[in-house]
Amino acid sequence: MRIFRKITTPSNYHHHQLRSYVSTCRAVVLPSFGGADKLQLRSDVPVPPLKPNHVLVRTRAVSVNPLDTRMRSGYGRSIFEPLLPLILGRDVSGEVAAVGESVRSVIVGQEVFGALHPTAVRGTYTDYAILSDDEVTPKPTSLSHVEASAIPFAALTAWRALKSTARISEGQRILIVGGGGAVGFAAIQIAVAAGCNVATTCGSQSVDRILAVGAEQAVDYVAEDVELAIKGKFDAVLDTIGVPETERMGINFLKRGGHYMTLQGEAASLTDRFGLAIGLPAATTFLLKRQIQYRYSHGIEYSWTFMRADIEGLIEIRKLCEAGKMKIPVDKTFPITQVKEAHEAKDNKLIPGKVVLELD
Ligand SMILES: NC(=O)c1ccc[n+]([C@@H]2O[C@H](COP(=O)([O-])OP(=O)(O)OC[C@H]3O[C@@H](n4cnc5c(N)ncnc54)[C@H](OP(=O)(O)O)[C@@H]3O)[C@@H](O)[C@H]2O)c1
Repeated sequence: MRIFRKITTPSNYHHHQLRSYVSTCRAVVLPSFGGADKLQLRSDVPVPPLKPNHVLVRTRAVSVNPLDTRMRSGYGRSIFEPLLPLILGRDVSGEVAAVGESVRSVIVGQEVFGALHPTAVRGTYTDYAILSDDEVTPKPTSLSHVEASAIPFAALTAWRALKSTARISEGQRILIVGGGGAVGFAAIQIAVAAGCNVATTCGSQSVDRILAVGAEQAVDYVAEDVELAIKGKFDAVLDTIGVPETERMGINFLKRGGHYMTLQGEAASLTDRFGLAIGLPAATTFLLKRQIQYRYSHGIEYSWTFMRADIEGLIEIRKLCEAGKMKIPVDKTFPITQVKEAHEAKDNKLIPGKVVLELD
């Protein structure tokens, strides 16, 4: 790794900081799509120059999201194939190593956490990650880097659905389908903190953990008949599973005017199948048709929701963490040198909970 330092120029002297510029660093590179064996840990990966709104983060921990293993296998190839080699990874926790000239929200040396947009090509599986200033915020001091890195991508996905799309409010009833996963568990905590009454479906091993954070009901979808166990109608349903039967069930649980939101929007799968030129308009048409159909048949709003960088959401998530109202348990950590083993373990469903990669 080569590092050279530069003293700040008078024009940005008010930052009172010495900026470190790193020209190359260690990163896990994906040269082509496929299994975990495609991942290559390289030591001489270029660090591009920072744009004015960029934050260079010395990475300490990154969590493995389902998007990482899916992208590795070729999900989103219609977008990513021309951009190979990729660096996977969306979440990050670490320290600010340098900032672009317009960054005011964080300073060099500060501990931060955050997440990249789903389509970012240079991800966080690297010693030096680059994020925009609207993608990072100071890390909650109560959390370790490992704990913090598990949160932003999942929590921002849940935030986008519940706060930006459904605009949940106090006293509403919210159903989370799949509350045992990272997004589902974050969604439960966001809805509870907003004063909603929350019901969820999950595996038996997640029931106690979900009730402990304030959900009113956690139904084991394997042992129980969900449609009999859950009573009444809901203002919003977040479906993290998004298969036809959870969609049908979720829609039937909604009040008129309620929101059904699935995380399994088909924009990427359709563009992968038919290419961007045909797949993208096909996805738009497909979604519109379904929205109109459900508006007529059930009087509900139907949407595909996606994670999106949202600095206000990230700051609120940090506040929830600081108040002890947001946590995502980490099941296992791997050093970044064992990234293949970490991906294999997720592919083979050997570890049900969150996996985090550590960079020293
Ligand atoms: N659209 C987006 O922008 C976006 C963003 C993030 C994630 N996602 C997608 O959303 C999904 C969840 O992501 P995640 O990060 O939360 O993954 P995760 O932490 O791996 O969670 C997945 C969980 O789903 C649960 N599950 C599986 N089948 C179920 C069923 N039939 N009913 C209820 N629960 C079931 C399992 O929990 P139990 O152990 O309790 O069974 C599992 O822990 C993934 O498919 C991911 O690709 C989409």
